[in-house]
Amino acid sequence: VRGGVARGEPGEGLGRQDSWALWEQAKLDELRGDGESRTAWLLRFTLSHPAIDTIIAGTMNPRHLAENVAAAQAGPLPDDLYAEAKRRLDDAGESPEA
Ligand SMILES: NC(=O)c1ccc[n+]([C@@H]2O[C@H](COP(=O)([O-])OP(=O)(O)OC[C@H]3O[C@@H](n4cnc5c(N)ncnc54)[C@H](OP(=O)(O)O)[C@@H]3O)[C@@H](O)[C@H]2O)c1
Repeated sequence: VRGGVARGEPGEGLGRQDSWALWEQAKLDELRGDGESRTAWLLRFTLSHPAIDTIIAGTMNPRHLAENVAAAQAGPLPDDLYAEAKRRLDDAGESPEA
């Protein structure tokens, strides 16, 4: 996957407000761990996809690099959390193509 952190959340990376609007709609903040940023959570969410092999996440910020390495080391989300995120995204109208 290229774009596995959706360019970072608006104001932190180069992410656009419109491409992150679904985040709010699906209330994904409620699924984040204590102190876990949206981008770190998203990286773990992307890593949770069963077909994922590699994610390219670009950054020029050493703090973001450290955060992304820590998120990758934390690994995929627990199965129940991943399923809940997928359920919320489905409800918000974002489902995988058949
Ligand atoms: N070889 C090629 O042909 C080619 C073509 C296109 C892209 N690329 C490279 O592929 C990589 C991926 O590009 P992409 O367009 O898919 O972008 P991406 O990896 O989804 O997002 C990169 C953006 O996310 C931000 N970001 C990264 N970690 C973050 C964090 N923890 N918190 C907040 N923001 C964070 C970065 O901002 P900060 O810098 O502020 O962290 C940067 O603006 C880039 O390095 C790009 O240069 C290569």
